[in-house]
Amino acid sequence: MKKIYIAAYQQSKFGNLFDTTIPEIVQKAVLGACEEIEIEPRVIDVGSIGATCNISLNGQGLLAGLLAEVEGLAGKPIESVENACASGGQAILSTVQKLQLGWGEVGIAVGYEKMRGDDGKMDGKLVGKSLGFFSHPIEREGKVYTFPHLFAEVMQEYMDAYQVSEEDLAEIAVQEYANAAHNPYAQMQKVQVTVEQIMRIEGFNRYIVEGLPLKTFDCSQISDGYASMILATEEGLNKLSVSKADCVELAGFAQATDPLQKGHRDVLRPSGAYSAMNRAYEMAGVREKDINVAEIHDCFTVMGALGTEVLGKADLGKGAPYWTEGKAAPDGECGINTSGGLIAKGHPVGATGVAMVGWCAWQLQGKVPPELQVPNAEVAATFNIGGPICASVCTVLKPAT
Ligand SMILES: CC(C)(COP(=O)(O)OP(=O)(O)OC[C@H]1O[C@@H](n2cnc3c(N)ncnc32)[C@H](O)[C@@H]1OP(=O)(O)O)[C@@H](O)C(=O)NCCC(=O)NCCS
Repeated sequence: MKKIYIAAYQQSKFGNLFDTTIPEIVQKAVLGACEEIEIEPRVIDVGSIGATCNISLNGQGLLAGLLAEVEGLAGKPIESVENACASGGQAILSTVQKLQLGWGEVGIAVGYEKMRGDDGKMDGKLVGKSLGFFSHPIEREGKVYTFPHLFAEVMQEYMDAYQVSEEDLAEIAVQEYANAAHNPYAQMQKVQVTVEQIMRIEGFNRYIVEGLPLKTFDCSQISDGYASMILATEEGLNKLSVSKADCVELAGFAQATDPLQKGHRDVLRPSGAYSAMNRAYEMAGVREKDINVAEIHDCFTVMGALGTEVLGKADLGKGAPYWTEGKAAPDGECGINTSGGLIAKGHPVGATGVAMVGWCAWQLQGKVPPELQVPNAEVAATFNIGGPICASVCTVLKPAT
C-alpha cells in the first residue's frame, strides 16, 4: 500500500452556521482546506463527502454533486458516504481507498452537519427523530430522543456491570468542558461545569428518559459545523509542493460494522470497534502503549469510558478511572479528547470523524493551543463510531517520515 499523508486540515468553529446554505458550506470546506497549503481545488484528483441528516434536516441529497460544483472538481471520482456518526471517518477512508486504487494522488475528505435552524436554534425532538433513522426500527419504536435513549440504556448497563456511578462518568464531561475552554473551535468554549452541577437536576439539565441515568450534561451537543482534509500520496505531496515535514502520516486505518440492533450483542465490548482499533494499530506497527494522543467518540459520557477501553488504555469497566486519575488530561499518560470531545467541542455528526483525525494531526504538529498541547505528542489514535456502537472507523497517526 502507498503511504498516505495529511497535507492540510481545516474546520469551522462548531456550534452555529446560522443561515449558511449547504452548497456554501461545501464550498467553504473545500476552499478553506486548499487555502491552508495555498493550492487550487483543480489539483485535487478524488474526493468524498459525509453527512447524515442532510436529507431529513436539510432536504439535500447527492452531496458529491455539491462537491463537484467547486470550480476544478467537476468530472472527478467523488462520492457521498453515510455511516451515521462515522460518516466523516468514512469519507476519509473512501478518499484513501481511491488514492490506493491509483485513481489519483491528491484527495479531499469533507464532513459536515447542519443540525440547527438559520436562527441558530435547535429543535431537539426533530433532531432526535432524524438521528433515530440510524437505529434499527425495532429498537427506535416509542423513543423521542432516540440516541440519548439508546445510550441511556447502555449507560445503565455499563454502570450495573462494573459498579460505576453517575458521578464517575460525570468526571469525563468535566474534563472535556475544561479542555473546550481553551479550544477556539469548541461550541462549549464558554461553558464550565463541575460534577455537582452535572448531578444537580435543574433547568435544562434533566434525566432525558425517566428511570435511566443519562442527563443533559452526559450528552454531546446538537451542532452545525464542517471539517475538511487534504490527503495525498508521496507523489501527491510533490505535486502540491508540500514538504513531508509539514505533514502527518495516516499510518493505520480500519473499519468494521456490527449488526444494527444493539440488543443482540455485547455493546459493552463491541467486537467491530475492537477489531477496527486493533487492525489500525497493527497496520501502523504500534501497540496501545505507544499512543499518547487520542480523540474518541464520546457521544455520551459512557462512551468516553468505553472508548478509553477500546483504545486499550484501560481494562473493561476501568475507562472512567483513567479519567478521574488524570491520565486522560492533556498532560496525562495519553491526552484524550483534548479538543473537548463531542460533549464540549460539539458534534456536527458528519464532520466529527474528520475533525477527530484533524485535531490529532494538529496535536502531532504542535498546532493546538498550549494549554491543550500534549507534551511530546508522538503517536495518535482516533475512534469514531456510528449508530448504537455499530459502525467504527479507527485511525493511527504518526509524524511523517
Ligand atoms: C440533550 C438533548 C436531548 C437536549 O435537547 P432538548 O431537550 O431539545 O434541549 P433543551 O430544550 O433541554 O435545551 C435547550 C437549551 O439548553 C441548553 N443546553 C442544552 N444542552 C446543554 C448542554 N449539554 N450544555 C449546556 N447547555 C445546554 C442550551 O442553552 C439550549 O439552547 P441552545 O439552543 O441555545 O443550545 C440534546 O442536546 C441531544 O439530543 N443531544 C444528543 C445529540 C445526539 O444524539 N447526537 C448523536 C449521538 S449518537
